[in-house]
Amino acid sequence: MDYQLLISRYSNPSEQVGWSAQRRLHACLRKAIQHGSLPAGSRLLSSRVLAHELGIARNTVVYAYEQLVAEGFLHTDRRGSVVMKLADMQNSFISKELRSDHGAGLAKRALGIMPLPVAADLCGGFAPGVPALAHFPVSLWRRLSDRTWRSIDTAHLGYANAAGEMVLRCAIADHLRASRGVDCDASQVFITDGTQSSLDLCAHAFADVGDKVWLENPGYVGAHSAFRAAQLKVIGIKVDDDGIAPTSRDWLTQVPKLIYVTPSHQYPTGSVLGLARRIDLIKQAALAGALIIEDDYDSEFRHDGPPIAAMQGLVENAPVLYLGTFSKSLFPALRIAYIVVPKNLIAALASLVGKSTLRGRSADQLTLASFLREGHFSLHLRRMRRLYQKRRDVLVAALDDALGDLVSIHGHSAGMHLAVRFRDTETFALLDEKISAQALEQGIVVPALSAHLVGKRQHGWCGLMLGYAQVPEEQIPSLVNKLAKIIRESLT
Ligand SMILES: Cc1ncc(COP(=O)(O)O)c(C=O)c1O
Repeated sequence: MDYQLLISRYSNPSEQVGWSAQRRLHACLRKAIQHGSLPAGSRLLSSRVLAHELGIARNTVVYAYEQLVAEGFLHTDRRGSVVMKLADMQNSFISKELRSDHGAGLAKRALGIMPLPVAADLCGGFAPGVPALAHFPVSLWRRLSDRTWRSIDTAHLGYANAAGEMVLRCAIADHLRASRGVDCDASQVFITDGTQSSLDLCAHAFADVGDKVWLENPGYVGAHSAFRAAQLKVIGIKVDDDGIAPTSRDWLTQVPKLIYVTPSHQYPTGSVLGLARRIDLIKQAALAGALIIEDDYDSEFRHDGPPIAAMQGLVENAPVLYLGTFSKSLFPALRIAYIVVPKNLIAALASLVGKSTLRGRSADQLTLASFLREGHFSLHLRRMRRLYQKRRDVLVAALDDALGDLVSIHGHSAGMHLAVRFRDTETFALLDEKISAQALEQGIVVPALSAHLVGKRQHGWCGLMLGYAQVPEEQIPSLVNKLAKIIRESLT
């Protein structure tokens, strides 16, 4: 038994600040006995040997052993100190502590959280949100990554700046200004481990328990989960063909602290929020003292018409937290995303993440910065835009052929997924979840629009989501035909 290892395993420096060596040793040995690392019957080193091994005074060990004897954890015989049998221990709480059914479990607030839509096992045909991973330039990335590691300095092996590597923040700010009309500089960009962690951070940083957060209805379940986990009150706000449509009554009776929107390509319906509504939302949010969370997750891919700039840059100092991710434009396992905050919130957020976040993976961030700076990102986006547009065209044509009489197609002008909506909402009311489950059994992932509804069920958005980015063109018609068969059979 390596006692130095044992002691370091059970020491807790933050809890043991200011403790004497004897108290620390006693606490560590006691925990080691309780957790079974020093099992019943085991004989401890003599006080002289242990003191020598740990480089402490012999009396320190003697007193720690004596206390453990007094508490019933040890007994002594002619040859030294021995760990008591569990049944003999005087402190009955120990046996309680060691039982596996100790009643711990998920907190109530964690129980209502819905599964994320992007689980690793949901990668079959039409799984939304999955980019064309087979087309990612892996060998280029490896070269850039090797170069980063060759030139990295030791400072980058320590904890990174909590807001992210400055070179990456600058590259992202440049990209967003040029291609998304985002009004920002690098100081406003905070790197995170993905949009999911951006949402957690926004929910915890900018709202208190019980505050109201608006979510598009139907809306992104990942956002719903983050807000529920932060104990916010989630209010579903109706989405129509032009995106989120709050009524004046909503503004009066459900005053929000946060408003989550996906204006460039509403998730899941694909609606695009019109300019007049964007400006109105910003104006009303400012009046209500609310912050808009603009999730611009797949806006790099616009297939028809001119690019639509982000809401963030529409009005100077708009109350917008702009969220972006590299999960769609590059690959989800990278786990790098960002939040662009209004200038007046930089200091507050920097102070919060500085106190609460330990960031790392500097090499990944530096590699990504090179990928952006050296033009590879723009080139990759251009290639993916062409590819996704082709796949989108094939999908739309196949859907028209196989299901044109039953569905209308939505949200195909941008992004990586579209929505099909059943024309006959009465007949199909909530049938979409059944169809989605049947399709999944046959390896086709087409989440139901109804599964994204917040709160009360409504029939307005009854249909399916189809992601096309990762489906090779030649597979699309046969998958659509299979899906059409499932849909038609569900009607009989
Ligand atoms: C609306 C929306 N936002 C963001 C994301 C990406 O999240 P992350 O950056 O955590 O991978 C997704 C992924 O499916 C999404 O659908």
